[in-house]
Amino acid sequence: MILVTGGAGFIGANFVLDWLAENEEPVLNLDKLTYAGNLENLAALAGNPRHIFIQGDIGDAALLEKLLTTHQPRAVVNFAAESHVDRSIHGPEDFIQTNIVGTFRLLEAVRGYWSRLDDAARATFRFLHVSTDEVYGSLTAEAAPFAESHRYEPNSPYSASKAASDHLVRAYHHTYGLPVLTTNCSNNYGPYHFPEKLIPLMIVNALAGKPLPVYGDGMQVRDWLYVKDHCSAIRRVLAAGRLGETYNVGGWNEKPNIEIVHTLCDLLDEMRPRDDGQPYRTQIIHVADRPGHDRRYAIDARKIERELGWRPAETFESGIRKTVRWYLDNQDWVANVQSGAYRTWLQTNYGEALK
Ligand code: NAD
Ligand code: DAU
Repeated sequence: MILVTGGAGFIGANFVLDWLAENEEPVLNLDKLTYAGNLENLAALAGNPRHIFIQGDIGDAALLEKLLTTHQPRAVVNFAAESHVDRSIHGPEDFIQTNIVGTFRLLEAVRGYWSRLDDAARATFRFLHVSTDEVYGSLTAEAAPFAESHRYEPNSPYSASKAASDHLVRAYHHTYGLPVLTTNCSNNYGPYHFPEKLIPLMIVNALAGKPLPVYGDGMQVRDWLYVKDHCSAIRRVLAAGRLGETYNVGGWNEKPNIEIVHTLCDLLDEMRPRDDGQPYRTQIIHVADRPGHDRRYAIDARKIERELGWRPAETFESGIRKTVRWYLDNQDWVANVQSGAYRTWLQTNYGEALK
């Protein structure tokens, strides 16, 4: 079996669902169930004997030791993290604890377990660390996209904590020989995306008749990838990636935020027109910019294509349409994640702007 951490979050849940649909191999899913972890994302797996869910922390050394010894996974895929840049600005502590200390404890537990495996199992074992393009910092409009050789220049507490975790993973390979792989991916979108992030927030607010808050001038650029393409890239790197290497994963799909918001508004006009006949674009407002806001991310995904033959399957046009459809069809999921804690977060981040 494989051990997946953070498998109740957005990408982790998509990964677990896809893995079990494509493989016979079982998944041991370890997730702390923070505000971002949601067992409803895994509801389709109820009663599936190939999915074992454990609520727990990647920073809990005793729990990790017990799980590894009992279940003997042949690989670990580490998604568990605090993932939202704005939350890291309001409160960095959890990011340091989970992304740095938690990854360290996970690496330590895996190193101990791996060193006790027999030769054959030790040779095929893999630790895949899921990271982000944000570790590379911000690009100017003219700069070439991030290659794997780009200098690390993280700018937010979130990206700094992910950069630190990447360095620890690298060090465990170089120092102890742990068979690691790292993926650095661009912005994902798709089903089960928590509505604190740009795309689901805009869909959910539009449907609720609320303002659509664009930070600053809205001309910041992100490179969007449909989540299922990220999952297939991880499966491919796990199967065939070269040990100790990093692979950048992206959609070749750079877009300014304001264009994303316009696209969502136009799709909703078509798929769920407002009762008053007005376009959703009338709900757009510009709010104060994110402190230290990175201007542009873009991924050069040629290495993973050249070495492993991976390319995204989804176009942005098809992926974003599927995503809007998913949110329209899953209004119960949306209602259930908008708990009291979610509303408190909106107040913390946007103040009166979303009233
Ligand atoms: P998410 O916030 O939706 O999910 C994170 C999951 O990790 C949640 O289920 C949460 O409960 C769990 N978790 C948090 N702390 C934990 C801990 N200490 N122990 C165990 N579980 C814990 O995040 P996501 O968007 O699904 O991102 C998953 C990973 O992919 C992260 O490592 C993130 O840095 C990386 N990533 C995300 C994106 C993106 O666009 N969302 C892009 C590139 C890389
Ligand atoms: O690039 C990969 C990263 O993408 C991941 O590592 C992170 O975990 C993930 O959260 C995401 O980070 P971003 O900061 O790029 O994503 P977010 O959805 O928060 O914001 C996308 C862009 O939209 C960014 O430029 C900020 C802007 N934005 C966001 C929100 C929530 C707005 O203009 N208004 C908003 O209300």
